[in-house]
Amino acid sequence: MPTLEEQLLDVKIRAPEEFSAAADAAALENARVKYLGRRGILPELMKQLGATPPGDRGRLGKLANEAKAAVQIAFDARQKALESHQTSAAEALFDATLPGRRRAVGRLHPLTQTMERVVSIFQQLGFTIAEGPEIEDEWHCFDALNTPADHPARDLQDTLYLKDGRLLRTQTSTVQIRIMETHPPPIRIVAPGRVFRRDEVDATHSACFTQIEGLYVNENVSVADLKGTLDFFFRELLGPETKTRFRPHFFPYTEPSFEIDFSAASLGIKNKEWLEIAGCGMVDPNVFKSVGYDPERYTGFAFGMGVERIAMILHGIDDIRLFYQNDLRFLRQF
Ligand code: DAH
Repeated sequence: MPTLEEQLLDVKIRAPEEFSAAADAAALENARVKYLGRRGILPELMKQLGATPPGDRGRLGKLANEAKAAVQIAFDARQKALESHQTSAAEALFDATLPGRRRAVGRLHPLTQTMERVVSIFQQLGFTIAEGPEIEDEWHCFDALNTPADHPARDLQDTLYLKDGRLLRTQTSTVQIRIMETHPPPIRIVAPGRVFRRDEVDATHSACFTQIEGLYVNENVSVADLKGTLDFFFRELLGPETKTRFRPHFFPYTEPSFEIDFSAASLGIKNKEWLEIAGCGMVDPNVFKSVGYDPERYTGFAFGMGVERIAMILHGIDDIRLFYQNDLRFLRQF
């Protein structure tokens, strides 16, 4: 029978050996229970200390404590080694040559991009952005814009009315009125926004689309200012070679009124020499009267254009419905 001293020295060597040999966490746990567990070898040996002769007790007690500390340190070290081995196994699975997981990056809708481009050109000329409500009344959409009571645009066929007599605005020209009603001249604004019409939906018509309206009011504003401003705008938007043509037209709220065509050749568009792009004119004196401006003192010009149409021309898009379908195959191209 080995002495207590021999047994302690033995454990101090064997336990670390067994811990090192443990291939995984389960084997290590078994070894731990064997040596350090409540009924394990070391605690059993410690119990025997009490039965040793008092002369040996100090020396053996010290030896027992050293053995216990050494065994514990060996266990901790092996446990750490096994854990780090596990993570390095996971690291071995990591393949730096695999493609990474890309974060999907969003972007602005092509209509928003077009609108921002149009607005930024007018901002260069000192225009600021104005906005108005999509639900309007007949005053702001028609009466104040000098549109007679029997004008076809007011017809149920063309305009979406609410039960209470209000309506969804059919044009952003409403914003002209709202701004002039609340601000004295000079005025220099662009008003982007959605408008609504009872249109049969097809490749070039939508019941809801986007317009940009412009208004400049001051003393001594002339048709030359109108032409100069819009010429500059279309050259900035479509390229320096772009030519514009102002064709006489009629709008209730301007006199004279024009439709603007631009030269399609500048965009490489074949078969057509001119493409219609916007409406404009000198603000009708009746419009000034309805907002309380003095038409003898002030003159101004106004214009309006469809953002979808501009985006379609710029990008060669042939169906307006693509803007509203949220098909990523379409949207990702912009
Ligand atoms: N409101 C017109 C439309 O919806 C566009 C327009 C034409 C606006 C002439 C104007 C303008 O302010 O002066 O087609």
